[in-house]
Amino acid sequence: MDVMKLCIILCVLFVAVQSIKVKLLERCSSNDNCPSQSSCIERGCDGRMCICENTYMPSESDNPTCVKITEIGDKCDAGSRCRGLYSRCNDTGYCVCNHGYTEVVSRINITYCKQKPIFQTKPLLLGQSCGKGNSFCADGFQTTECRRGVCECIDGYRPANLPEINSYPFHLLQCVPGEFSIGKSKLLFIGLNLLLDMP
Ligand SMILES: *[C@@H]1O[C@H](CO)[C@@H](O)[C@H](O)[C@H]1NC(C)=O
Ligand SMILES: *[C@@H]1O[C@H](CO)[C@@H](O)[C@H](O)[C@H]1NC(C)=O
Repeated sequence: MDVMKLCIILCVLFVAVQSIKVKLLERCSSNDNCPSQSSCIERGCDGRMCICENTYMPSESDNPTCVKITEIGDKCDAGSRCRGLYSRCNDTGYCVCNHGYTEVVSRINITYCKQKPIFQTKPLLLGQSCGKGNSFCADGFQTTECRRGVCECIDGYRPANLPEINSYPFHLLQCVPGEFSIGKSKLLFIGLNLLLDMP
């Protein structure tokens, strides 16, 4: 095979790999890989993933597309999805928490659905007063702690902002490393296992 032919084959392969479609929240190498209204963005140590634009999240489907995020308590329809997990669009078209889950409002006024307390323990979000009774700072990523009677980010971490929260649509993200930035690589940030269903 001559060099020219080899070049052409490699070129075609390169173009093919570039345009392979991947699903939302899966690894990608360029924006061309990603479904519409999403981009290939570095998300901490997850590497580059197809992440929905700011006010969008993956739809409920085997092959999700990006749909508008509707906050709990707001009007929803087939073209949107209610924030977080354990939420649904009810029969009259409002985002509500599933049975067995209760609303909890975060410091930046995002409402999440959380499993109702078991054994009277009370998980608290960032900024809520803690240290009394059976309450504890909900630490989905183990990045919050009770300090001076208030749930705060642990040392070296800061409260996550809305774009960061939205890029982890199915996690309770509250604090991120101080230097964390969506789209920036080489930042170790793990702890993705605990979802919103802590007691
Ligand atoms: C749906 O949720 C809204 C807002 O919480 C409530 O007013 C309405 O009664 C609910 N509809 C049904 C059918 O439960
Ligand atoms: C959250 O909502 C409350 C009451 O509606 C409001 O006073 C407060 O300024 C809001 N905070 C933020 C960060 O939007």
